[in-house]
Amino acid sequence: MQLDPDPIVQFQRWYDDAVMAEPCDADAASFATASPEGWPSVRMVLVKAWDARGFVVYTNTESRKGRELEANPHAALCFHWKSLRRQVRINGATEHVTDLEADTYFESRPRTSRIGAWASLQSEPLATRLEFEKRIATTLAKHPIGAVPRPPHWTGYRLVPREIEFWEDRQFRLHVRTQYLREGGAWAVQELYP
Ligand SMILES: Cc1cc2nc3c(=O)[nH]c(=O)nc-3n(C[C@H](O)[C@H](O)[C@H](O)COP(=O)(O)O)c2cc1C
Repeated sequence: MQLDPDPIVQFQRWYDDAVMAEPCDADAASFATASPEGWPSVRMVLVKAWDARGFVVYTNTESRKGRELEANPHAALCFHWKSLRRQVRINGATEHVTDLEADTYFESRPRTSRIGAWASLQSEPLATRLEFEKRIATTLAKHPIGAVPRPPHWTGYRLVPREIEFWEDRQFRLHVRTQYLREGGAWAVQELYP
């Protein structure tokens, strides 16, 4: 497996392959966070941007994952592109994206999604669906037309990678694993036993 020395360049190559091969959501990944006591939790997210600085996930800072990241800013992502039999694992520390980045992405979302970001108390108990519908109606009444501002509790988290691993299936479970470890400003690369 000939991989680029820069894992972000390599990620982009595999992502481009995944866009062609997967029926939907090549940018979907599982996203693991942990409480300060070390209890893990994982859920799917869409990874909306990546570059040399890291991988960006947008969410509600008051959701379970948001609260965990505020208290323990470390996370992991795992992409699985089934059709290609490939996996990419990434872990590192997280930071907030800039307000400008969050505003730009928020404004690119459909209007109803922006209304939903205000109306949903993400991860809180919901007594009835009607309660949620009332919150949507109230938010719509506040913003009947025009711009919907980004809620203060909605932003992006950038996972700054310290480790990225590319895994590719081979027959008889003799898979190929390549691990990139951040060492200062450079990436050290090594193969791992499958
Ligand atoms: C394919 C897929 C993509 C998702 N993308 C996001 C996302 O980008 N941001 C988000 O907050 N939730 C996303 N969700 C919902 C989350 O999986 C999760 O239900 C929600 O964020 C609440 O998680 P929490 O209670 O652990 O914070 C997605 C779900 C699926 C199945």
